[in-house]
Amino acid sequence: MYKIPANTLFAGQNLIFVPECQSTNTLLAELVTKSPLPEGTVMITSHQTAGRGQRGNTWQTVAGLNLTFSILLKPMFLTVKQQFQLTMAVSVAVCLFLKKCGLENAKIKWPNDILTDREKICGILIENSIQDEKIQHSIIGIGVNINQHEFQAARATSLCRQTGKEHDLNEVLQILLSELESVYLQLRAGNNEWLKSMYLQHLYGRNELLLFESQGERFEGVIKGIDEIGRLVIDRSTTQSVYAMKEVTFIF
Ligand code: BTN
Repeated sequence: MYKIPANTLFAGQNLIFVPECQSTNTLLAELVTKSPLPEGTVMITSHQTAGRGQRGNTWQTVAGLNLTFSILLKPMFLTVKQQFQLTMAVSVAVCLFLKKCGLENAKIKWPNDILTDREKICGILIENSIQDEKIQHSIIGIGVNINQHEFQAARATSLCRQTGKEHDLNEVLQILLSELESVYLQLRAGNNEWLKSMYLQHLYGRNELLLFESQGERFEGVIKGIDEIGRLVIDRSTTQSVYAMKEVTFIF
């Protein structure tokens, strides 16, 4: 069903398709421990029965309609403190992919939810394996809603809902893998300023007054950007605060 991409050097050149599995992230992680796999190996399924999301959430999709896959990268050039750079690279690549599919307005809701019109179209789950303060390998799980029309979850959308047409899953996978590889190569080449500016350019709510919640308190603030380790920087009425993951939520 899925073809080896013609337009990448390594992303998807080793492509493993399983008709059904619990979670492509879990399956790929198991495989990595058993045998050496080349960088760019993709594990993809049509039916993920126990998809995992961030913060212990689940990721549910209808079989056969969406992209659900994981890709193995080996960013050994990144230290633990630099791991947010990978989050930035993957988020930016997904936005560029959506642009190529006709969606100009893709945004990154910090840290790495991808939205269009304030509705989630893609979720990303990055699981890093660390040794000696360096990332040994990273399993990047990506779920993009492509041809699904109806969602149980509130504020979810898909490429077909946004563009008004069905998309060929193999074709969109090829585009996404090509974008992932090219942004990853920028990261590997050390083009950090470019990457950060692309991330900020796509950051949802930047320089807008939004409502947040932290430690049970609701407050208004303006997102100014991210700090050197990827924490969210918010201007509040009298102070500037910095939040790590799980420390702040957006109130829509
Ligand atoms: C999130 O938004 O919470 C992240 C969702 C990530 C879902 C993808 S689908 C493919 C891969 N396998 C998983 O079990 N999860 C990721």
